[in-house]
Amino acid sequence: MYFSEEIIAEVQQRNDIVDVISQYVHLQKKGSNYMACCPFHSEKTPSFSVSRSRQLYKCFGCGEGGSVITFLQKYENYSFPEAIKVLAERAGVTLPQEELSEAAKKKESRRARLLEVNKAAAGYYFYLLRSEKGKVAASYLDKRGLSEETKHRFGLGYASAYGNDLIMYLKQKNFTDEEITASGLAGFSEQKGLNSKFWNRVMFPIQDTNHRVIGFGGRVMGEGEPKYLNSPETEIFDKSRNLYGLNFARTSKKDNIILCEGYMDVISLHQAGFDQAVASLGTAFTSGQANLLRRYTKDVCLAYDSDGAGVKAALRAIEILRQTGLGAKVINMEPYKDPDEFIKNLGTEAFQERIDNAENSFLFQVRMLQRNYKLEDPESKTRFFREVASLLCGFEDELERENYIQAVASQYAIASSQLKELVVKQALGQGGVRVAERPQKTTADHAKKDHVKHMQQLLLTYFADNPQLYTKVKRFISASDFTDETYGFVAQRFFEDLEKGEANPVKLINLFEDPAEQSEVSALFTTYLSDLEEGKEAKNKAFRDILLAVKKNSFAFYSEKSGTDIAALTKVIEGKKALEELEKTHIFVD
Ligand code: UTP
Ligand code: MN
Repeated sequence: MYFSEEIIAEVQQRNDIVDVISQYVHLQKKGSNYMACCPFHSEKTPSFSVSRSRQLYKCFGCGEGGSVITFLQKYENYSFPEAIKVLAERAGVTLPQEELSEAAKKKESRRARLLEVNKAAAGYYFYLLRSEKGKVAASYLDKRGLSEETKHRFGLGYASAYGNDLIMYLKQKNFTDEEITASGLAGFSEQKGLNSKFWNRVMFPIQDTNHRVIGFGGRVMGEGEPKYLNSPETEIFDKSRNLYGLNFARTSKKDNIILCEGYMDVISLHQAGFDQAVASLGTAFTSGQANLLRRYTKDVCLAYDSDGAGVKAALRAIEILRQTGLGAKVINMEPYKDPDEFIKNLGTEAFQERIDNAENSFLFQVRMLQRNYKLEDPESKTRFFREVASLLCGFEDELERENYIQAVASQYAIASSQLKELVVKQALGQGGVRVAERPQKTTADHAKKDHVKHMQQLLLTYFADNPQLYTKVKRFISASDFTDETYGFVAQRFFEDLEKGEANPVKLINLFEDPAEQSEVSALFTTYLSDLEEGKEAKNKAFRDILLAVKKNSFAFYSEKSGTDIAALTKVIEGKKALEELEKTHIFVD
């Protein structure tokens, strides 16, 4: 979705950052700024600062910073367009109707209509659970230990055992037969016409992250097959891109997400205060869901069933999470079957302890693998360690691999030197690459890369704060000096805008659809935010140092590539000239 520069500027202007943030955080005036304890990390003394004049916020403790839009993106986990919409509504700004094609408009109104059907149905089920007809269902849920508040929060309901009352209700609300079948709530046959999908079941509405009902799960009360019946996939219900409970978990202040298997697990966990619990939707966990989770957390704790099927599902989920770049840990549920039963028997504190002691996902994989071998049998034992060694080859980072070798060695009584030797052998067998000699990304390399990115961020923030500065130094710098791919792309656009005299960083954020990228780009322009009270000379020097650092990095970057790349060689030659000149030049920031 695209919003014009003007409209974004207007939305920002009409939503004073101090006013908006005070709705979430208790701000206190300190000099020209407002201070609070940071909502993004835990601290006792305030280092979170909001500036009315700059319309920006910054935490000097954890480094979070940005505009009023960034704040909502981070705090509420909204995407950029979502944040704009909420702020526009708050300030009474009318957003221009999107320029949608005819087909897109049709699709939008169709979706809206199907959402309406689901909402009406959820309302009906909700009502029925609380009526005379819903008594049995209500007592079933009571027996399962759900409080009124919990039932309400999750919008639980009941689909009746008699007649087609839901269908009648929906028709009375002017939904067509076609709309009712397309929502997955009913089937159609020549003889009977419409007939409900859900009969005599406790109903769990499935909501998207904006709390809109997109489908249902229905459970039989007591025994019966299937235990859970789920809505089919429809135009508004994509099972691989939604998660049960995420509408609440997305604003949880917990720093992890608990991924479980069942609806009841999620509900029980939320009721016990674990409002970061989610579950997939009667289907296996998918990479689409992992991507969704990446918006909200770095750490996923798996709370799968402790039975064989649960372990198998957990092993698959671990692979998917790893491919998405998310860390995973496994919660031990023994001796209970699932989180719901665990909480019921041992309570909240015990579960928190299990989270704190959750097992590293790799060590979990190894432990599960070990079950297939007999360590008392030398031959079986050898095969087990070969298998483990080949898994260990998956770690490209030397330090990380070394740590895992040691962890496995101490857990399974093998000398770490011996295991390491096996790993090297496996690697040789796999690709002819000698693991130990491969150039490794070390921790120092990571730190250096972060530093370089930070310098590039600072430089762009300087230009955003002070566009004239760009004019002063543009002969030294070009977009290609921003060696991080995203930064380079942004710098290119930003410099073009600066040339036209119309720089507006917020517009650039809008070029990205992925919220993670949006946040990164927004950080690009808000990295530097202290009130610059040092002297002029210090300011000039600070800026010059940053410019030099970016330039030097770019020089090194292209030098390394120039052996194989002619274009890089040109950049090296140009860069060398610019660097030499820059070293002789004095730059005045103001
Ligand atoms: P479980 O069989 O582990 O059920 O299914 P549960 O979560 O413990 O449920 P309760 O406690 O008996 O009520 C886990 C999840 O798998 C899907 C559902 O999403 C369920 O929440 N499932 C299970 C189905 O879709 N259909 C089924 O028949 C069974
Ligand atoms: Mn259960």
